[in-house]
Amino acid sequence: MCGIVGYIGNKQVLPILIQGLRRLEYRGYDSAGVAILDNSKQTAVNRVRSVGKIDNLADKVKTEKMEGTVGIAHTRWATHGGVTEENAHPHFGCDEKLVIAHNGIIENYRELKEVLEKDHTFTSQTDTEILAHLIETHYKGDLRMAVETALSHVRGTYGLVVLHADHPGTIIAARLGSPLVIGIGEDEHFVASDATPMLAYTKKVVFLDDGEIAEIHKDGFVTYDLKDKIITKHVEEIEWDDEQAQKQGYDHFMLKEIFDQPTVFEDAIRGRYDIDEGTAHLGGLNMNDEEMRRVNRIVLIACGTASYAAMVGKYAFERLAGIPTEVDVASEFRYRDPIIDSNTLVFAISQSGETLDTLAAVREAKRKGAFVRGIVNVVGSTIARETDGGTYIHAGPELAVASTKAYTNMVAIMVLYAIQFGRLKRITLATGQRLINALLEIPEKMNLVFEQNENIKKLAEKYKNYRDFLFLGRGINYPVALEGSLKLKEISYIHSEAYPGGEMKHGPIALLSKDFPVFAIMVKDQLYDKMRSNIEEIRARKAPIILVATQGDERAKELAEDIIYVPDTMELLEPLLNTIPLQLFAYHVAVMLGRDVDRPRNLAKSVTVE
Ligand code: AGP
Repeated sequence: MCGIVGYIGNKQVLPILIQGLRRLEYRGYDSAGVAILDNSKQTAVNRVRSVGKIDNLADKVKTEKMEGTVGIAHTRWATHGGVTEENAHPHFGCDEKLVIAHNGIIENYRELKEVLEKDHTFTSQTDTEILAHLIETHYKGDLRMAVETALSHVRGTYGLVVLHADHPGTIIAARLGSPLVIGIGEDEHFVASDATPMLAYTKKVVFLDDGEIAEIHKDGFVTYDLKDKIITKHVEEIEWDDEQAQKQGYDHFMLKEIFDQPTVFEDAIRGRYDIDEGTAHLGGLNMNDEEMRRVNRIVLIACGTASYAAMVGKYAFERLAGIPTEVDVASEFRYRDPIIDSNTLVFAISQSGETLDTLAAVREAKRKGAFVRGIVNVVGSTIARETDGGTYIHAGPELAVASTKAYTNMVAIMVLYAIQFGRLKRITLATGQRLINALLEIPEKMNLVFEQNENIKKLAEKYKNYRDFLFLGRGINYPVALEGSLKLKEISYIHSEAYPGGEMKHGPIALLSKDFPVFAIMVKDQLYDKMRSNIEEIRARKAPIILVATQGDERAKELAEDIIYVPDTMELLEPLLNTIPLQLFAYHVAVMLGRDVDRPRNLAKSVTVE
């Protein structure tokens, strides 16, 4: 849950590291630090750390003389030890020649510390500092061997980089459970938690796998396993460019990413449907038609927003393919002894591809003999690599902590999969074609939803000071309500709950009053009349109502004065449109309340702890 960046080459390293940290700030942002090998005295490492966002660190380094062409840096999301400068990375060993930045958790740090404390002085409460001293203990002149030996005593997870003043031409990187990517440039190399810090310099990357350790120099690198065997790595080309990772004129990444949706939706479905056959072709499934026909149960595992996308996927799989589908929150799935057999197909759904709960659930499902496929955004991420196939959602870099465009594209991919299974099992050519045509209209209809932005902004102004919200939806719009509620709470810090419309009378109705607004999705589908009755019940309790209604539904005005109109589409595709007003509402409320929209408190983009 922290971000690491390292550089070795001929350029001044400080701006590269600071810029790289800004790209990785989504991974954690409670403190940060840099360590640079001093060019004037090759035997010294200069280190600066600071509490808070990268801006604080950037201000602090201005007053320090930090020249050098080799360095490492870190942005932290605290696990062991409070948010203090002493606990910020990078951490020194005793003689301040060896310095380390680490992402992950050392589980046996207490035992190790007890032994090390006899000869080493600790200055922080972190588990990482133990690693610095442990490596120092094993250092006999060969830095990689020292890291390798130290790691053999460690239980837990790590992505780490190590620098030593006696080895000014080397960075050591190692991975077990926390991602690391090496970037290959001209006479320079990068290493980072993901590829974004290096995109401005190179697109050529190598993803380290678990149990690998790399010795990186400016003109090359060698990768070993932990038994000292050289591993040949495959160089990959990253498609995202640096500009894609920028805000492109929007005030926040979240707003940019909301408005990215029509474009990235097209990217998600392009080349993956066949209008003549009324079906989809998602090659990554790695199953032939016969194997697909044998699938008699689908399990969707995910966390947070991805799990709400999965709930939409459940509707699609059950309705189009007739395959019983369960959605399991990954952190629950892994501990409840799930029932899996060889006809169960498991999909792991994740934007980052690094969510530890989802990854652990993938491993558990595989252990039980399931076929596990990934529906993932980040190319080369751990879940993408550990699954037996799957599909990238092509949402591009999603940097705001609150997920928006990844949700849409997850839904898009699950609908395509459902069409593909459905055509083998039960839906007709005509139904398949109707669905694909409706999918093709989605980007244009998303643009129509954006025309409501000013209206939504006014509603945000009107409602921003309420302390509680209830989100309601029925059927396929229930997950939309859940997602709208999650968006509002995570970026505006306003309390909100989401319920299926029919459940309201079983409890939550007790909350309603003029101070408890209800955001309800009441579009023209098979549950329209049912939802209308629920809204009447709310009106009777005098709670303010905001409706998401279908364009042209004049009767909606009898129920509420605050309405956001959305275009009509096929019922299964409604979440692709109806979620957008909720994303925009949460965004505007959060901005108006002065929240840090892209980096809300206590959260991180990539949740790599349990
Ligand atoms: C989304 O807005 C959240 N911040 C969070 O719920 C997120 O969706 C969840 O942590 C799963 O992340 P993943 O898609 O990267 O696995």
